[in-house]
Amino acid sequence: MKTDSIWRQDADQTFYPTLQTEMETDVVIIGGGITGMTAAHLLATAGKRVVVLEALKVAESTTGYSTGNLYAPVGSYLNVLEKKYDPETVKALVASRSAAIDQIERLTQQFGIDCHFKRIPFYLLTEHEAEDAFIRAETETAQAAGLPAYLDESKSALPFPISSAMRVENQAQFNPMAYVKGLAAHTAGPNCQIFENSQVTYVEEGSPNVVHTEHGKVRAKQVIHATHTPKGIWFLHTLLGPYREYALAVSLNSPYPEGTFWDFHAMHHHSMRTYVNDAGEPFLLILGEPHKVGHQEDNEASFRKLEEFARERFDVKNVEYRWAAQHYKPADSLPYIGRRDKNSEIYVGTGYEADGLTFGTLAGMIISDLILGKENQWAEMYSPTRHNPKKAAGKFIKENVDVMAQYLKDLPYRSQVEELADIKPGDGKNIEMDGKNYGAYRDDTGKLHVVSAVCTHMACLVHFNKAEKSWDCPCHGSRFGVDGKVLEGPAYLDLSRMEDKPASTNRYKKITSAFFFAASALVGAYFLRKALWEKGPVQ
Ligand code: FES
Repeated sequence: MKTDSIWRQDADQTFYPTLQTEMETDVVIIGGGITGMTAAHLLATAGKRVVVLEALKVAESTTGYSTGNLYAPVGSYLNVLEKKYDPETVKALVASRSAAIDQIERLTQQFGIDCHFKRIPFYLLTEHEAEDAFIRAETETAQAAGLPAYLDESKSALPFPISSAMRVENQAQFNPMAYVKGLAAHTAGPNCQIFENSQVTYVEEGSPNVVHTEHGKVRAKQVIHATHTPKGIWFLHTLLGPYREYALAVSLNSPYPEGTFWDFHAMHHHSMRTYVNDAGEPFLLILGEPHKVGHQEDNEASFRKLEEFARERFDVKNVEYRWAAQHYKPADSLPYIGRRDKNSEIYVGTGYEADGLTFGTLAGMIISDLILGKENQWAEMYSPTRHNPKKAAGKFIKENVDVMAQYLKDLPYRSQVEELADIKPGDGKNIEMDGKNYGAYRDDTGKLHVVSAVCTHMACLVHFNKAEKSWDCPCHGSRFGVDGKVLEGPAYLDLSRMEDKPASTNRYKKITSAFFFAASALVGAYFLRKALWEKGPVQ
């Protein structure tokens, strides 16, 4: 079994240089995933000079670890959103997501990108009769929003009993890593310079903004944070919940189903699809078992549960690949795309939940229109500065109470050891030495790798993720390698290694706790005032 994304096998490698100099451009894009490369392509094509700074390799972070499914419905479910908002919002949501899928299809055809793009049906189904009403409600909302959706009475698309299913025609699938690498290859040129292994360490805001990397810097009027969640300290982080989700690619002894399938139960779903690689070998992909980042002691259990789910429903020959991916849930169920503040030249796309390939493409479209001064019919709906107090209050409070809990107490499962000698090969533990918090990982050869356990974002304590061998922060989802290197999330800087001086938690804890208490109190008061002013209950 390979512990890597299945998409890499069919995606070309990229070899863009590391930024080693100072330069000037019109727009700096931080992040070379689907959001960043879509924006880069649209801006460069329109005549803007663009620099893309990717910390790792193009399309090899979040984009390269997704399911490759493209669909207009959303993981928070259309009928639930209709109740929270209104039919017009759902209609606009579906139209904008459909436009993003059309954009991917258009670019794939225009450049002949070999990424296995194809139109397929999407299914939302349940195995439980008690949930038939939910499937019916979703079908009716999808139809009213203009989607080609209907109740599929045949119930035969999968080899296990289904109680009811919604089928939506003309949705799509592709290999996301091959697509974004292909798009980058056709975008790189005089108007678009791409740099890999160029981790941004700091954005100095001003006119112009200056984006710093370890070995260079770029001046630009506009900066786009296309990093899944924005880098640095933003108010938006209080509106986002970071979640980790797991994926398996298995081979079967039986036929492979054609389509994207969401097996719905108890307001969650497992996602399933088939992928046939360049060599003609088929795989069934199964994704699910989400939990908040850094909140699960035994991450291996998530993979085990996913495998059980697969084996109970399919004749599985072998588990061939496994990987995990991250997503950020927005407080009011819609992503935040656009200018950070009114009149700001800093842009962001975040809060895609698990629907990021479509929302990421949409973010590239909306942000490029804003920079080019073009009208975009969906910009206002997704604006980060929108105010939806009644829609956001419940999740806002939940996420921030949770963040506060991380500051104020250790999680009950916190695996802390007294002695470094207590750490077994392949495992990592938190340990306190001289009043400072460390994360210690012992590799399979017995060598210890010790880093500061204080997250460089806002000083929460990181926890070890045994399945992926990383240090994960439970507050806003930053993740670090066992060598302390930033893997993803809002943190700019690596965890310091033991030979460096790790920060003591306590001083930072006080500062950041105070900040969050103040921010939470202010925003909570704002929500409450707005809700009361609008004479409606806080939901
Ligand atoms: Fe914010 Fe770690 S990600 S404190």
